[in-house]
Amino acid sequence: MAESIRGLKRTCRCGEVTEAMIGREVTLMGWVAKCRNKGGIVFVDLRDRSGIMQVIFEGGSERAGALRSEFCIAVSGTVEKRGGAVNPNLKTGALELRAGSLRVLSESLTPPYPVQDGIDTREDIRLKYRYLDLRRPELQKKIMLRSRLVALVRTFMEEEGFLDIETPDLIGSTPEGARDYLVPSRVHPGCFYALPQSPQLFKQLLMCSGYDRYYQIARCFRDEDLRADRQPEFTQIDMELSFVEQEDVMDVNTRLLGFVLSRLPKVYEELGFDRPLAEAAEKAGRQILESGIEKMTWKKAMDLYGSDKPDLRFGMEIKDVSELVKDCGFSVFSSAVSSGGFVRGLTVKGQGGMPRKKIDKLTETAKTYGAKGLAYLALGADGSVKSSFARFLAEKEIKALILAMDAEPGDLLLFAADSFKVVCAALGALRLFLGRELKLYDERELRFVWITEFPLLEWSDEEGRFMAMHHPFTMPVLSDWEHIDEDPGSVRAEAYDIVLNGVELGGGSVRIHIDTVQEKMLEILGFSKERAEEQFGFLLTAFKYGVPPHAGLAYGLDRMAMLLTGSDSIRDVIAFPKVKDASDLMINAPSPVEQKQLEELSIALTAEEE
Ligand code: AMO
Ligand code: AMP
Repeated sequence: MAESIRGLKRTCRCGEVTEAMIGREVTLMGWVAKCRNKGGIVFVDLRDRSGIMQVIFEGGSERAGALRSEFCIAVSGTVEKRGGAVNPNLKTGALELRAGSLRVLSESLTPPYPVQDGIDTREDIRLKYRYLDLRRPELQKKIMLRSRLVALVRTFMEEEGFLDIETPDLIGSTPEGARDYLVPSRVHPGCFYALPQSPQLFKQLLMCSGYDRYYQIARCFRDEDLRADRQPEFTQIDMELSFVEQEDVMDVNTRLLGFVLSRLPKVYEELGFDRPLAEAAEKAGRQILESGIEKMTWKKAMDLYGSDKPDLRFGMEIKDVSELVKDCGFSVFSSAVSSGGFVRGLTVKGQGGMPRKKIDKLTETAKTYGAKGLAYLALGADGSVKSSFARFLAEKEIKALILAMDAEPGDLLLFAADSFKVVCAALGALRLFLGRELKLYDERELRFVWITEFPLLEWSDEEGRFMAMHHPFTMPVLSDWEHIDEDPGSVRAEAYDIVLNGVELGGGSVRIHIDTVQEKMLEILGFSKERAEEQFGFLLTAFKYGVPPHAGLAYGLDRMAMLLTGSDSIRDVIAFPKVKDASDLMINAPSPVEQKQLEELSIALTAEEE
């Protein structure tokens, strides 16, 4: 039976009881994490979000004996030094609470799975009972860290003179690239709002309105396929600045990251995270504050790492041997080069003895990224050569290849011959796979890099035209702009991404504030004057009233929290995440609605769900 809380005040949280409180009377409230009855003495592990406190009920307390896991209780008693063995894993491991009185605030059904860390209960079951899963110390720590992270970001932004301004969630479709979530309008039958994919256009309008430094912790919605680092609704730390250049945005954000990282170690400690996380943040924070964040052009990132979000925690750089093999006898290589492609390879140190089966598996991996195959050359410790293509090459050519690949006896060389795109994708993926598999890096290191000079446009085979790589309002590098007609693909953008450990943490750009450039850009992207006017005429018009030069950036907050808590998925740092098919297993969303609701919205369904 549930008892009232009347007249009872919690003195502190479980994890906040300290040695200094020995002998004092306290009242704790929380959940029964564990309950053991040893010959009439009942030991309860009482849990709240701060930690666990051991409580002892003596004298054959019947009511304590009836306690079960997840009962919500209040206990008053005296803090004592622990009688039994000290538990070094708990903050309060040397203490216990000798209970005087107990109130059962509410009982609990037997939970569907134990509410503890380290369980292997299926994720769909845990998500169905997310409110219970969220009681687990591990998840609680992560959710609390996220909150503290946001607080640090806000502190920095406010100190730097950024204004927190909210932008609407019911808007029109914006051309950001992903599919929109639509919301039907009751008042305007047949018309729809779109949920924002980002506050992009509004923050640009705020610059027009003179707010010069804006930020927002903004909810964004994108109807795209889910991955470990993608959710249909997610949160951005969004910002925009006026009267600035690219360098200014990168500078303020480098300082923001330095500020946050250097203050995080204290937060990790307070929340009881592992030491290595705090050490990694401290080291990265210090490095950033002292020497900034490394910058790398998009071209260099693609050439060396096969990716625009390179993981720089380890080397194994891609090497180009196209020149060397363009006339060789292996037609896979020579024909790739003669048709405008590349032959590039990876040197895998000390893996010359890799079994053929494993190389075949790597080949399969490369093929999933579009490669037609993977050529290998394995060097024995004695310098002997085993290879899928060496028989087509002269000895001299093989030697030159080994030299160009910086290889030594005992190494494995892997080559892909294909277009730039495919070679980068395949070798980039292999590099990551091998780096992980061979444990070539310290997982806890935090390695940041700015990627700059992205191409402005990207050719889409699907659409048969150029698309904006970032978005249609991104400023081209003006010295490249004169080539826009003869070679659109060569024009670079004033766009930049911030990458952490191979994950795109954030991205941004300088925006176009020159009307002739914007008009031309829209023309290249295939917008007719009418369609441009319809979709974002308000922005183009606003820009006619004295638009300041402006630029901005947005981070994925969930991704930042994921990486900073050492999580594998952003689901771990989102209180109520969705699963792969974008549904919420706890509230059963999305779900059908009443016919009456549909009628109010003037919606007729064409297909019944099977
Ligand atoms: P962009 O589309 O690159 O830029 O998004 C910025 C950052 O948001 C995060 N992100 C996501 N996180 C979780 N789930 C998703 N589905 C998801 N999609 C994106 C990423 C990404 O780097 N308006 C521009 C920013 C600007 O130019 O100022 C924008 O939205 O971490
Ligand atoms: P094949 O001549 O198709 O038997 O291929 C000989 C070797 O070259 C095999 O190891 C293939 O996996 C490899 N190979 C085939 N196509 C490519 C390619 N485009 N790039 C790299 N290696 C390839």
